[in-house]
Amino acid sequence: MDFPALVARRFSVRDYLDTPVSESLIEKVLDAARLAPSACNNQPTRFIVIQDQETRRKLQPVYNREWFLAAPVIIAACCDRTLSWRRSDGRDYGDVDVAIALDHLTLAAAELGLGTCWIGNFKAAEAKAALMIPSSIDPVAFTPLGFPAPGTAARKTRKPLTDMVSWEFYGGHHR
Ligand SMILES: Cc1cc2nc3c(=O)[nH]c(=O)nc-3n(C[C@H](O)[C@H](O)[C@H](O)COP(=O)(O)O)c2cc1C
Repeated sequence: MDFPALVARRFSVRDYLDTPVSESLIEKVLDAARLAPSACNNQPTRFIVIQDQETRRKLQPVYNREWFLAAPVIIAACCDRTLSWRRSDGRDYGDVDVAIALDHLTLAAAELGLGTCWIGNFKAAEAKAALMIPSSIDPVAFTPLGFPAPGTAARKTRKPLTDMVSWEFYGGHHR
């Protein structure tokens, strides 16, 4: 699939089949994330792959949505703050690194016919407790991973490019 078709195909899937996802497909999407760039190549992204029913139950207080908890695989994308690069003004780029890696993962999943959905609105303290995440590691986002239920489809509601892009200075128009 060419890249424009792939980015158009990816959308937030909130309804999954219970069809299992093979280890080889899981590894493929994780490997796409592994190849993502990161600031200073520090590679602070850490993933937790959740498949067991027992762990899934522990995620209920983290993000209590039926479609999320029912997906065959759930992935937590975390940042190791001992590794993430900090700019000279102190700004930590770890979340950016994790976001790029997770974006690679969601696009690789779409190419394989798998669905994902970025989850940022989760309870972080509960996530750390449920998944035994050490204090120096922050969960940044979750995504379910599974085959989309029939009838789910992309609805790309996006602002026009003119809202997003300035030319020469902030707010500058194209000649
Ligand atoms: C950083 C981030 C956090 C998000 N958090 C949530 C979330 O907590 N729950 C949810 O259902 N969708 C979440 N989304 C999905 C967005 O709602 C979705 O990407 C957006 O509406 C565009 O739709 P699309 O992904 O289908 O193209 C999140 C997306 C991003 C990028």
